[in-house]
Amino acid sequence: MADRILVTGGTGYIGSHTVVELQNAGYEVIIVDNLSNSGAGVLDNIEKITGIRPVFRKIDCCDYEALAAIFGKYKGIKAIIHFAASKAVGESVEKPLMYYRNNLVSLINLLELMPQFGIGGFVFSSSCTVYGQPDQLPVSESAPVKPAESPYGNTKQVNEEIIQDTVASGANIRSVILRYFNPIGAHPSTEIGELPNGVPQNLVPYITQTAIGIREQLSVFGADYDTPDGSCIRDFINVVDLAKAHVAAIERILQSGQKSPVEVFNIGTGRGLSVLELINTFEKVTGVKLNYRVTDRRAGDIVKVWADPQLANNELGWKAKESIEDTLMSAWNWQVKISKKQE
Ligand code: UD1
Repeated sequence: MADRILVTGGTGYIGSHTVVELQNAGYEVIIVDNLSNSGAGVLDNIEKITGIRPVFRKIDCCDYEALAAIFGKYKGIKAIIHFAASKAVGESVEKPLMYYRNNLVSLINLLELMPQFGIGGFVFSSSCTVYGQPDQLPVSESAPVKPAESPYGNTKQVNEEIIQDTVASGANIRSVILRYFNPIGAHPSTEIGELPNGVPQNLVPYITQTAIGIREQLSVFGADYDTPDGSCIRDFINVVDLAKAHVAAIERILQSGQKSPVEVFNIGTGRGLSVLELINTFEKVTGVKLNYRVTDRRAGDIVKVWADPQLANNELGWKAKESIEDTLMSAWNWQVKISKKQE
C-alpha cells in the first residue's frame, strides 16, 4: 500500500507542485488547506497532470479539533509536509499578530497531534530569509541565523526553533527543514502555477503580469546596490525542482536515512542572478519587451543571497536541474494560459 502523506497548504503554489511530485513518486496524498490564498480548482488541475485526485479537506491548521478529526479519519499517515502559512512580508509588518497566530498555532497544533496519532515525519517549509544578509556567499546551513527583518521572517525562525525544541524534548518526530531560496516558474503542463492574490509582491509574477499587460510597468527596486549591475541578486529556483526536494526529504525520513533527528537543507541552485539579469533573460527567451524602470530601493530588501546547495546535493541526492531559461518560459506560458482563461 502506498505511504500516506498529509500536505498542509497543498492547493497553494509550492504545495500543489509538491503534491504532483509525491503522487508521481507513488505516495497517497491528503491535502488540508483553508483556501485563504488558493482555490479548490487546483485539485482538478492536479488530477489532469497525475490522473489521481488527492483527498482534500478544507481545514484551517489553527483548528486543533478539525485537524485531530482528519488524523483520526485518515489513519496511518506517515509524514506531514507543512506549507500552510501566511507569507507576505509587507502584510506581516501591518498585521503581526495575524502572522504569529497563523504561522505559530498551526505548527504547534501539528506537532502536538503527531505523537497522539503515531505520525513520525515532518517536513517544514522554511526560507533563506533566516540568514538575513549573509556574511559569506554562497550561504551554507551553518551560517548564523540573523535577526528577522519582518514578523513573517521571524515566524520562520521561531518555527524552526519550535521544531528543534520539540524533537529535543524527546517527541518521536523526525524532521527535515528546507530553506527555500526564490521559487519561480510553473509546471511544464501549464496546469498549475503561481496565482497571486491581487497585486503581486514577488518579482516574477509582477514581470509576467506586466509583460501581458495587466500591470503598466515593473519597478526595479534599486539599481545602486553594491552588485555588478547595481540590482539585487537572488537564487531563483524552479518550483518543480523545489517540489522534488520535498519528495527526497520524505524518502530520507521514511527510509531512516537521517544523520540527526532534525536536519536543515538549503534548497537553491547555487547560482545568483540579479534582478536586471533576470529581466533580460525573460525578454530574450519570451521575445516580449518588458516595460520597466528603476525606482527607489524597497525597504528591508536583502542585497544579495544565493545558496550553497551542496548539503542537499550530497545528503538528499537532490539537485536543481531546470535552466533559468526554461523556468522563465514556464512562468510565461502559465501567465498566457491563465490570462486567456480570464478573457
Ligand atoms: C523575500 C524573502 C523570502 C520570502 C519572500 C516572500 C529574503 C531574502 N527573501 O523574498 O524569504 O519568502 O520575500 O514574499 O528575505 N523586486 C523588484 N520589483 C518588484 C518585485 C521585486 O525589483 O516588483 C525585486 C526585489 O527588490 C528583490 C527581488 O526582486 O530584490 C526579489 O523580490 P521578491 O520576489 O519579492 O523576493 P524576496 O524579496 O527575495
